[in-house]
Amino acid sequence: MLIKLLGCRRSLRSASTLAGLICALLVLLYTLDKATSGRYIRIAFGGVKETGFSRPVEEYVSHLLKTDPRTAEFVDTSEADALFDKVRILCLILTTEANLHTRARAVNATWARRCNSHYFVLQTRYEKDDVIMTPYNDTRNNLIYKVRHAMIHAYTNLMGTFDWVLKADDDTYVILENLRFLLSNYDKDKPGYLGYHFNMYVENHGYMSGGAGYVMSVAALRQMVDSGLNNYACALTKTYLIAEVSEDFEIGKCLKIAGVPILSSMDVLGRETFHPYPFEQYLLDFLPEYLYDWSNTRPQRGYNCCSPFSISFHYMKPETMLMMDHLLYRIHIHGRNTAGNPAGKSIFRLERVENMRKPKVVIDKIA
Ligand SMILES: *[C@@H]1O[C@H](CO)[C@@H](O)[C@H](O)[C@H]1NC(C)=O
Ligand SMILES: *[C@@H]1O[C@H](CO)[C@@H](O)[C@H](O)[C@H]1NC(C)=O
Repeated sequence: MLIKLLGCRRSLRSASTLAGLICALLVLLYTLDKATSGRYIRIAFGGVKETGFSRPVEEYVSHLLKTDPRTAEFVDTSEADALFDKVRILCLILTTEANLHTRARAVNATWARRCNSHYFVLQTRYEKDDVIMTPYNDTRNNLIYKVRHAMIHAYTNLMGTFDWVLKADDDTYVILENLRFLLSNYDKDKPGYLGYHFNMYVENHGYMSGGAGYVMSVAALRQMVDSGLNNYACALTKTYLIAEVSEDFEIGKCLKIAGVPILSSMDVLGRETFHPYPFEQYLLDFLPEYLYDWSNTRPQRGYNCCSPFSISFHYMKPETMLMMDHLLYRIHIHGRNTAGNPAGKSIFRLERVENMRKPKVVIDKIA
């Protein structure tokens, strides 16, 4: 094919003959073929823009949801079911009206239903039971107001129904069973906060990536609202470094002010469980360079990127989320199972994070 194409280029240059015309057609076919086979790669890889779908994503989701998933077939879920009642997770998912029928729909069809309760947080006309309506419109600058609104709503109206609060985005994919497994080793009645740890901006504390999702105990939520948000201790920071108010940084800063410690989310081999990028970017090693500076845990390359009990991945497109979910929950490998280890003590690091790497930039100097 390649040789033919090289010949073609010559005959195209030489004259507008019939051979040239046939060649042009060949080149066109070759290009089309490349473009379409490339398409499958683009679909499988969540981190790139183009979807490769010819209809709106919501149509594919609707089509899929018409079928019956029969999730528990052939699988023993008794340990996960027991943890479901013991480690109750409230999921707050930031979204926008524009994403309600695409990204939020895929989240709702996959991991959100494994939360003990979940709410989408947005400004919307749609009244739904699983929506917390906020008065703030969909600008990036408003993210912190939306999150605070939802946290205060949880504190005021939902106390007693959850042990931990997860904040995620509509392009975060979360494996709730693994999150419960990790959290089952920590005490919900003690303040604590975990996720993907950026060692930046907030001195001796850092903050958790918003996109990878972060989690706080019910005690941490109480402490944050009582001694941070409700007494105006958590004023928003605006500097030349952070031009717009940044949601995850502000929550991290507020939790530090409220005295909430950071808990490790690493496994014993130093592999990360929360991921601010999609899995293929970890696996094939095309993470942005800044991450190696910003990460308090330092990403490992290749196969060691991700704990086998990984919890989250960010920048997951709706269609990738549906595929990932299907692979994880509806395709099994005969004869393989995770070894029963309800305590999980030998799997995770389970410690307070106190030895911070020295951050490059600090803008918060509150002791
Ligand atoms: C999420 O799915 C549930 C169950 O199908 C449905 O009742 C609910 O309205 C959905 N939420 C949104 C925001 O679409
Ligand atoms: C969002 O609200 C702010 C004020 O809260 C306003 O200045 C801005 O124009 C609004 N943006 C949109 C897109 O409606």
